[in-house]
Amino acid sequence: MSGLNEFSIAAARRTDAMLDELLPAETEEPMRLHSAMRWSTFAGGKRFRPLLVFAVGDLFGVSPERIVRTAAAIEMVHTFSLIHDDLPAMDDDDLRRGKPTCHIKFDEATAILAGDALLALAFKAIADDTSLETDIRLRLIAELAEATGTPKGMVAGQQLDILSEDAEVNAEELERIHLNKTGALIRFSARAAALAAKASVEDLSAITDFATRLGLLFQITDDVLDATQPTSVLGKTAGKDAERRKSTYVSLFAIDGARSLAEETNAAAVASLAAFGGRAEMLRQIARATLARTA
Ligand code: IPE
Ligand code: IPE
Ligand code: MG
Ligand code: MG
Ligand code: MG
Repeated sequence: MSGLNEFSIAAARRTDAMLDELLPAETEEPMRLHSAMRWSTFAGGKRFRPLLVFAVGDLFGVSPERIVRTAAAIEMVHTFSLIHDDLPAMDDDDLRRGKPTCHIKFDEATAILAGDALLALAFKAIADDTSLETDIRLRLIAELAEATGTPKGMVAGQQLDILSEDAEVNAEELERIHLNKTGALIRFSARAAALAAKASVEDLSAITDFATRLGLLFQITDDVLDATQPTSVLGKTAGKDAERRKSTYVSLFAIDGARSLAEETNAAAVASLAAFGGRAEMLRQIARATLARTA
């Protein structure tokens, strides 16, 4: 797995350098807002979505420079989603990425605004990306908006997730929640790199199938980890889903059931890569690592 480790570290470094360039300085007014944006962005996330952007880019021979702004933009949208997810009106969490959440470190209004500003900045980052042709930029902006919003994006999934608290949700509805709240942005991460590569319709479709399953797998394992790992390992409050009476893969299928579904989902993800042969080895490793992840 050392290939994946090194690749992952390089992907995170590139993304962080671009984020640092794109985010307003803490010394610029409004300093409190910029400090909050940087606090959450640089709190120590895994940079999983950027990793996927670069891994799909690598499969198609795209240079990292061509997709690094997109990777940073996706991480901004992701960080925005986490800041808002942690707010008292949503999951009400005080720990994120091993540090106090944005609204605890700053205040609720600042956390809402920091999320809003990260979202807006993400779209600007892609719009201004002169390394991509205008038609590709437009397509990325449209697809990022779709993956972020509603009816098939993260915000839609978050609404369904909140409505699922204390509710009876069946397997199909739960899959829909997870595919939207977490899957959509992961799916976009993979598609963005394939679009930047001008991949064929068939290749784009195979990558989309893979990333859709990977996104689902990522949230199934998130549900399992919430129920099995301590706060010190997660960097966020353990047992939060049970406390909020969320509908999750663990509440519906118990831990063993959720683990077997994770294995099936990994197998389905990997099966989507068949046509790429050895070229997709990094993506297979990413799926395997997602299945086996401990944080
Ligand atoms: C957490 O995402 C929220 C989910 C969508 C499950 P990550 O597990 O990628 O969080 P960070 O970015 O590493 O903090
Ligand atoms: C959140 O899912 C998905 C997002 C869109 C942020 P969770 O609520 O399970 O994420 P964590 O466990 O707080 O990271
Ligand atoms: Mg949540
Ligand atoms: Mg949460
Ligand atoms: Mg969770």
